Amino acid sequence: MTVRGLEPEDVTAVYEIERDCFGDPWMADALKQAAHEKGRSVFVAVEDGCIVGYGIIQQVLDECEILRIAVKTDFRRNGAGKMLLEEMIKAAFEKGARIYYLEVRESNTAAIGLYKKLKFTESGMRNGYYSNPTENAILMSRAVT
Ligand SMILES: CC(C)(COP(=O)(O)OP(=O)(O)OC[C@H]1O[C@@H](n2cnc3c(N)ncnc32)[C@H](O)[C@@H]1OP(=O)(O)O)[C@@H](O)C(=O)NCCC(=O)NCCS
Repeated sequence: MTVRGLEPEDVTAVYEIERDCFGDPWMADALKQAAHEKGRSVFVAVEDGCIVGYGIIQQVLDECEILRIAVKTDFRRNGAGKMLLEEMIKAAFEKGARIYYLEVRESNTAAIGLYKKLKFTESGMRNGYYSNPTENAILMSRAVT
């Protein structure tokens, strides 16, 4: 498996995963545009020439927010999520990021497990932050030195 930056021809495959994973999917054009926005980067995980996952980060100076991370349903528990997150942290670190943060639905045990595995810790809660369905967001963060 390899992790690399998004290419224009990856957008359809990324959008399909996005649509399958999230009730509020980003549109394909927004995903494509994200790769060109200042401070924002999109990465894909590729196995045997197929896109199996992707992640989006937003960096401002030394702070990096994990905006999205998702892996194809039939490819989960293969280490793709971990590899994506590690590569995104590394890429942002090389551009000066030292604080990493994100929000996650409190019922999302898979994502919380992934973040904890990569040393993120809970730093707060936003009550009723998510809709469809309404749910609290757990805030998680990690400092990397
Ligand atoms: C969260 C997600 C990206 C994890 O991707 P993945 O490729 O399956 O994760 P990995 O195989 O790299 O797992 C790494 C670690 O995360 C944790 N983890 C992953 N899935 C888990 C699950 N279902 N339950 C508990 N822990 C889990 C484990 O600690 C795992 O390590 P282990 O396999 O050695 O036990 C994937 O479940 C997904 O795409 N979910 C839907 C989208 C989503 O909710 N994204 C996050 C939004 S905030």
